[in-house]
Amino acid sequence: MSQELQTPTAMKLQSLETLIGKYFSKAPKRAALLLSSILILFTVIPLSFSIKISSFLLINSSLWGNNIRDSTANDLGAFKETIRSCDIFRGEWVPDPKAPYYTNTTCWAIHDHQNCMKYGRPDTGFMKWKWRPDECEMPEFHPSEFFETVRGKSIAFVGDSVARNHMQSLICLLSRVEYPVDASIDSDERFRRWFYATYNFTIAAFWSPYLVKSMEADHLGPALTGLFDLHLDTFDDDWTAQIEGFDYVIISAGHWFFRPMVFYEQGKVVGCYYCKQKNITDLGINYAYRRAFRTAFKAINGLQNFKGTTFLRTFAPAHFEGGLWNQGGNCIRTKPVKSNETKLEGMNMELYMSQIEEFRDAERVGRERGHKFRVIDTTQAMLMRPDGHPSRFGHWPHENVTLYNDCVHWCLPGPIDSWNSFLLEMLKTEVGRSVLR
Ligand SMILES: *[C@@H]1O[C@H](CO)[C@@H](O)[C@H](O)[C@H]1NC(C)=O
Ligand SMILES: *[C@@H]1O[C@H](CO)[C@@H](O)[C@H](O)[C@H]1NC(C)=O
Ligand SMILES: *[C@@H]1O[C@H](CO)[C@@H](O)[C@H](O)[C@H]1NC(C)=O
Ligand SMILES: *[C@@H]1O[C@H](CO)[C@@H](O)[C@H](O)[C@H]1NC(C)=O
Ligand SMILES: *[C@@H]1O[C@H](CO)[C@@H](O)[C@H](O)[C@H]1NC(C)=O
Ligand SMILES: *[C@@H]1O[C@H](CO)[C@@H](O)[C@H](O)[C@H]1NC(C)=O
Repeated sequence: MSQELQTPTAMKLQSLETLIGKYFSKAPKRAALLLSSILILFTVIPLSFSIKISSFLLINSSLWGNNIRDSTANDLGAFKETIRSCDIFRGEWVPDPKAPYYTNTTCWAIHDHQNCMKYGRPDTGFMKWKWRPDECEMPEFHPSEFFETVRGKSIAFVGDSVARNHMQSLICLLSRVEYPVDASIDSDERFRRWFYATYNFTIAAFWSPYLVKSMEADHLGPALTGLFDLHLDTFDDDWTAQIEGFDYVIISAGHWFFRPMVFYEQGKVVGCYYCKQKNITDLGINYAYRRAFRTAFKAINGLQNFKGTTFLRTFAPAHFEGGLWNQGGNCIRTKPVKSNETKLEGMNMELYMSQIEEFRDAERVGRERGHKFRVIDTTQAMLMRPDGHPSRFGHWPHENVTLYNDCVHWCLPGPIDSWNSFLLEMLKTEVGRSVLR
């Protein structure tokens, strides 16, 4: 099984809705740059604003508990009135003539299949955009500021190759200041640890594409992309047993759930997705996706000594157009779309809603135990980046790979770099909270 090429099998089954040409009304607000008074608390962190974590769907903002004004209102005292909030996840992509901030020659950490320039991607415009929230300016990612924020800390990335894609973007963005040394515990490529000596900062990757205990039952299966057994109520201790000491844990999952799967609960088969077995009910992707997050969050909430913050990095949609992933579908756009030109819907919407709902439940349980949960809501920003994928430039033309046109991962440098700007803003807020407490 290639961990590289997750194959969105379901694309075969569901009609892919065109992302473009659907409109929804939205009145974008342009507010002035908001400088929060919190910055006086820092010497090394020049700019900070409180982050209102709501989704662009605005499900029920009273439940989020992520707004610094709400969650620390009592501690904030006099600061309370002066802090404004900005939802950094609602916005538009705007030109950034300064980008990119690294290249495939300055950064060695780009995974081959995301090194789009190496494989001859002809256009470079996709690298030259930055995310601008509707209500504030997103500060540029300064590596030294990131390092100061995470000095003496550790971050774990738990998920699939898109999580690794995110981690490699971070390593490349930081590479202007320092490279890490490989501090991996063993030689397993799926579990890497990187250590930045100057800052006593550790990054770790934990491979867990389904977040729960899973096994490949058949490397072919009905769609020839593997058939996986998922134990939806069982922790994947490859990561759950390892993360207790981490300060920040970033959880994500996505495209592996589009492969055929058989679902187990309490050790018994309860259903499947596209397993093509007459005696097993097809419960669909979302059944498993929701329960996988439930179980992952339950594992974290069960850790006695966990003092860290858990981030849900939300689903990043794929962008196959003109056909299904295995029927000539491709992503050949060279520009982002505007928020009013696209809409989250169909399976993307269902998966997003599931993870958000499970997150809210976990957050409520966690709060009683002193566990912190936050959302890095990348879904809308990435929905607007059909131009950011490798397409056919993730390998040489003659290479026979499963996902020939890769519209799932993200070229580096590219729009996934913005995830680390989100991360930095959120980490600054976390540090701000602990200072204020
Ligand atoms: C939001 O959640 C609160 C608490 O569960 C509930 O009382 C309120 O009715 C909800 N609001 C909406 C708009 O769903
Ligand atoms: C970097 O990209 C260039 C094309 O811009 C390519 O010629 C070169 O082989 C790539 N280098 C590496 C190390 O990937
Ligand atoms: C490095 O950070 C760890 C926590 O991640 C801490 O226990 C340790 O004391 C730090 N070491 C130094 C030399 O600061
Ligand atoms: C379904 O039927 C197959 C044989 O056709 C059998 O091997 C399998 O155990 C059955 N599964 C369940 C859940 O009954
Ligand atoms: C979308 O918004 C842009 C401005 O951001 C505007 O120029 C364009 O006309 C809008 N398109 C639609 C279909 O509303
Ligand atoms: C590519 O690989 C698949 C299976 O791995 C095989 O069926 C197919 O014939 C191969 N195509 C080419 C052009 O080699």
